[in-house]
Amino acid sequence: MTRTMVGAAIVVMLAAPAVGRVQKDPAYQTAPAAKPADARAPAGRAGNGATLYKKVGCYQCHANEGQGGLAGPRIGPSPVPYARFLQYIRNPTGDMPPYTARVLTNQDVADIYAFLEARPRPPAVDTIPQLAP
Ligand code: HEC
Repeated sequence: MTRTMVGAAIVVMLAAPAVGRVQKDPAYQTAPAAKPADARAPAGRAGNGATLYKKVGCYQCHANEGQGGLAGPRIGPSPVPYARFLQYIRNPTGDMPPYTARVLTNQDVADIYAFLEARPRPPAVDTIPQLAP
């Protein structure tokens, strides 16, 4: 072996464990496709969800009650099905930033989901005198 080959071999051996670590770290992985078993939201704590919703900044685009605003659509009180919700938070495809498991665990996401589901529903349009036909 030439000196260069030995050098290259050492570089490969040193790099290999680091590559393994990065691949195993959940924060570097994209979320696996949701399985049917994930379709129902795990029990969430709406109170903790409210705190997280403010802390990680969902409110900045989706507004305080999830009603939506200029930077993001309405996401409460009837969010998309839970499997889609979790999948989109991990791998958004539009203007929304991704949230890895390092920032929000699956339980955190379930808590935010519970918070959004618990938002008050608006009254029916025909019960509002000003809007009645
Ligand atoms: C920087 C602005 C921004 C932030 C912060 C943000 N979102 Fe979004 N979100 C968007 C936009 C814009 C969309 C519309 C789709 C797109 O462009 O990605 C969206 C879409 C969604 C959707 C709808 C997905 C669908 O299938 O229709 C959900 C659910 C959602 N966001 C949840 C969240 C939650 C929960 C948080 C906080 C953890 C959050 N978003 C933080 C901008 C944001």
